[in-house]
Amino acid sequence: MEKVKVGLIGFGNIGTGVVKTFQHNAEKINEEVGKKVELVKIADKDVTTPREVEIDSELLTEDYREILNDPSIDIVMELVGGVDPAYKMIKEALRKGKNVVTANKDLLAKHSAELIALAQEKQVALAFEASVGGGIPLIRTIRDSLAANNINYILGILNGTSNYILTKMYDEPDMSFEEILVQAQELGYAEADPTSDIEGYDAANKAAILASIAFGQKITLDDVYTEGITRITPRDITYTSELGYIIKLLAVIRKMINGVEVRVHPVLLPEDHILSSVSDVINTVMFDLDLVGNTMLHGPGAGALPTASSVLSDVIEIAKHLHNKKVPRFLTPYTFDREKEIVSMDDVVSGYYIRMQVYDRPGVLATVGSVFAKYDVSIAVVLQKESNIGGWVPLIVLTHPIKDAPMKKALEEIKQHDEILRGDPFYIRILDV
Ligand SMILES: NC(=O)c1ccc[n+]([C@@H]2O[C@H](COP(=O)([O-])OP(=O)(O)OC[C@H]3O[C@@H](n4cnc5c(N)ncnc54)[C@H](OP(=O)(O)O)[C@@H]3O)[C@@H](O)[C@H]2O)c1
Repeated sequence: MEKVKVGLIGFGNIGTGVVKTFQHNAEKINEEVGKKVELVKIADKDVTTPREVEIDSELLTEDYREILNDPSIDIVMELVGGVDPAYKMIKEALRKGKNVVTANKDLLAKHSAELIALAQEKQVALAFEASVGGGIPLIRTIRDSLAANNINYILGILNGTSNYILTKMYDEPDMSFEEILVQAQELGYAEADPTSDIEGYDAANKAAILASIAFGQKITLDDVYTEGITRITPRDITYTSELGYIIKLLAVIRKMINGVEVRVHPVLLPEDHILSSVSDVINTVMFDLDLVGNTMLHGPGAGALPTASSVLSDVIEIAKHLHNKKVPRFLTPYTFDREKEIVSMDDVVSGYYIRMQVYDRPGVLATVGSVFAKYDVSIAVVLQKESNIGGWVPLIVLTHPIKDAPMKKALEEIKQHDEILRGDPFYIRILDV
């Protein structure tokens, strides 16, 4: 039987899942490929710590170059993560004519166009199904199964940690954000440093990759407007529930007349919106397409075995077509040649939920109303909540859709009225697609 040799760099969480899959599903993998797919080398900084899988110590090395310099290895899996040194490793591998499979969203959100161009030059594959949505087959679905469609928009719950925290905030209204975050860390759903998840950067990396593939153009993390969930309080959960909404951290990727919108921020979704019911660490991506209409993919966005499933799917596809002249389209590195503007956040239109702490006295609503009127902000709902210590009360306003720029100017001006306002107004956009 013909053999395909594979090397793995990074024997961590996902690397271990990949090794387990190679061991348990070898027969299935070989059958799919029609060749014997062999994992012949594993590189990690530390090869002494026991892992969850038994592995022949002969396979292990602390020097990843042993994999890159082995001419018999056709496919390299990069599962180290982060930008450096993974960037160097992948570039070196591609330059040496090796096919590369990676799950590295941080790296791809910055350098995918350059790495794809290099792979194209070297006539090898750079595959990254696992970089977005863990075990959910997203990249290939966009590039292959949905290829005949024009994509109008993509809405994605792309970060399991923040979705878990928001779900718990609704389920356990007496728990604070911080308490739920600690619980998520204890359960292994949040990293010791949760910044990337709760500040929206992880979802933004994935949004940049999805948008690049969906719209065939270079879109990097810098193009993605990003806000996280750290300012959401139990009060916002209560008030939005009362108003019939659920808060989600959403990636919105949308084709507009004036360009492409790519943004990640909390949104208010109507309770009966299909994405409102996505709970815990699950990821969901909804497409709006000119031929299909709406379709949705839903599943585990992280975890060793789901992510290994996506990594191995890339390995299988590359192995199947190895030594063929033509690599299939989803693996063929291609140039991002469409160049639509990235729509400035100033021009994005949404309704707003605004929470302010105001002094409970006559004339407050008139002051707020006159500032909003100055910037053409039209009010849809006003709620003044129960009285608070010292006469300060929460004032909740929902607005009709308005561009970001005038809304932000209105909020800046309201901030100057410190005779009626305590603290900064807090806002969440209302989904308008
Ligand atoms: N975790 C998930 O659920 C998930 C889901 C989708 C995608 N991903 C992506 O998958 C990739 C791997 O994530 P992970 O969770 O498996 O990370 P991880 O557990 O930290 O594993 C990374 C491994 O690479 C090793 N490493 C670091 N520098 C190295 C070097 N120079 N040479 C060789 N090995 C090196 C690390 O060793 P040390 O620990 O000693 O530094 C660690 O064992 C990342 O790109 C991540 O974004 C992860």
